[in-house]
Amino acid sequence: MLKIAIVDKMHQDGINLLKNNPKFECEVIDDLSKKNLISKLPNFDGITLRRGKIDSEILERCKKLKVISRHGVGFDNVDVKFLKKNNIKLLVTATTTSTSPAEHIMFMILSLSKGISFFDDAVRKGQFGSIMHMKHSNFELSNKKILIVGFGRIGRKLIKRCLGFEMQVFAYDPYVDKKVIESFGGIKFENLNDGLKEADIISLSVPLTKETNNMITLDKIKMMKKNAIIINTSRGGTVNEKDLNEALDKKIIFGAGLDVFEKEPPENDNPLLKNKRVFLSPHAATFTQECLSNMSIETAQNIINFFDNKLDKNSIVKI
Ligand SMILES: NC(=O)c1ccc[n+]([C@@H]2O[C@H](COP(=O)([O-])OP(=O)(O)OC[C@H]3O[C@@H](n4cnc5c(N)ncnc54)[C@H](O)[C@@H]3O)[C@@H](O)[C@H]2O)c1
Repeated sequence: MLKIAIVDKMHQDGINLLKNNPKFECEVIDDLSKKNLISKLPNFDGITLRRGKIDSEILERCKKLKVISRHGVGFDNVDVKFLKKNNIKLLVTATTTSTSPAEHIMFMILSLSKGISFFDDAVRKGQFGSIMHMKHSNFELSNKKILIVGFGRIGRKLIKRCLGFEMQVFAYDPYVDKKVIESFGGIKFENLNDGLKEADIISLSVPLTKETNNMITLDKIKMMKKNAIIINTSRGGTVNEKDLNEALDKKIIFGAGLDVFEKEPPENDNPLLKNKRVFLSPHAATFTQECLSNMSIETAQNIINFFDNKLDKNSIVKI
């Protein structure tokens, strides 16, 4: 019997898929502290991983481990160097984790361009009539320019939605050919700064790497238009939070939408929590009924496919 650790609860659909498979004996691990993971994980052949950090100190004790199946596509919470050295496969939910995030980016863009909950509040407060003659800062998306930073799975879903809103779409991704971006109806920028200067909306869908860490700092924000908004649903750390807060306070740009934070959950004294020019969500871009169910099933199916020798190559992270 193969032992599978389900690290951090996921949707029951995926758990059932593993539990109902006669090959596996499964255990859900909810305590994500390092102490608990060090003591619990050494006996397992496979791990599904949602939240929780799996570093080399934990991994070097897992002598039987053959595969980690991430519930998601980012893998900055796993020591990939250790996996590579020890020939442990890393799998991601490549097919189910882009539609909801792309919709979430649109939700943030629309919330910022239409005043977040301003109208809803106004109706509830009895300001239905008086609001008519107010000066509104809301704006149309039609004819606005968006820069998609990172033209992967999410970027490619996002462009379709933006074109539906009649936006002009630019993309910055040094690893994607100009022709691919053009085939989706976008224009490639070879240089990030050129894109930042031109765009009304900047949306990040890049992995967190040495290269993307602190990609957007105050000097970059200062290049943007005064009416610009930044959306970050990628990973905290790609946008420098202190710099973003300062830029919003000084009205260097119009607003921001953040789904991800340098520290999650953010500390209570994080000034962004009080900043009215930023729209926040709790790393929730995948939190739809469909996405959570489908991701859990894909996470489980990847484990099954691995042990059945039937893996789809798109699920395997090249490390
Ligand atoms: N907020 C959420 O809940 C949530 C959900 C899904 C994914 N994510 C994050 O979004 C990221 C993107 O997801 P995806 O499925 O589109 O990944 P992906 O791997 O399909 O695409 C990422 C793209 O970023 C590009 N890239 C890498 N380094 C870059 C750089 N320095 N500059 C510009 N582009 C660069 C890559 O070439 C690739 O095309 C994930 O890595 C994950 O961290 C967050």
